[in-house]
Amino acid sequence: MDGRARVRGIEMVYTERGQANDSAPIVLLHGFPLNRAMWDAQAAALSRFYRFVAPDLRGHGETSVTEGAATMEEMARDLSALLDELGIGSVVLGGLSMGGYVAFAFYTLFPERVRALVLADTRAQSDNEEGRRTREETAQRALAEGMEFIAETMLPKLLAPTTPHEQPETAARVRQMILSMKPAGAAAALRGMAVRADQTALLQRIHVPTLIIVGDRDAVTPRADAEKMHASIAGSRLEVIEGAGHVSNMERPAEFNRALESFLRAL
Ligand code: MLT
Repeated sequence: MDGRARVRGIEMVYTERGQANDSAPIVLLHGFPLNRAMWDAQAAALSRFYRFVAPDLRGHGETSVTEGAATMEEMARDLSALLDELGIGSVVLGGLSMGGYVAFAFYTLFPERVRALVLADTRAQSDNEEGRRTREETAQRALAEGMEFIAETMLPKLLAPTTPHEQPETAARVRQMILSMKPAGAAAALRGMAVRADQTALLQRIHVPTLIIVGDRDAVTPRADAEKMHASIAGSRLEVIEGAGHVSNMERPAEFNRALESFLRAL
């Protein structure tokens, strides 16, 4: 089911599946410039056993776009307000890439609400100066020209080199998601990511079960970033998905779901 909630002055749209039970609900946060539909395969698999929620984060998908930078903290506070609306206390929180940045912010702000973490194709480091400059240029160009050039430049980075010919429908879905994003939402998220905090020091303070997943062909947040998080988060589990790029959950859904389900069963 798709739901809409008014929280913190915006309308948030989310997917909700499955029944509440004794297990903590699982909430998955999409990457940039994508939306909640990237989790369709996970929603189908996990909702058999868990209450499953995937929101469109501020500025993405069908959720409202706001002026200025959409920071990771802002998105984390939106999520906390949405969980209040849904009557949900603590969750297993997962995020892919930007979704992972938001998960770090959420863990910092609301540690008591996090039963476990899933960090997929993400990293703890913040942007360097050059990265921040590129984000601002991209934001301005998106506002002036629209999303087409972002689709052209990002698609090859988001997918493993073999994905476009092995799974043209996956490549087409990712492209469509990018093209459907509102340029103002993209600019706000780019500016929010540019000012995100470095979370390297947080890693050692994470005391919940943590699963780290990375595609072995991830060119945006490579395996080395995942290994750094794994080395710093006590007791964490690392799953490397062969043949997957940055959107490993879409490129290799069966392997991704297997890793996730095995982690959830062990909680
Ligand atoms: C994402 O996939 O969410 C973004 O590529 C992350 C980023 O640009 O840092």
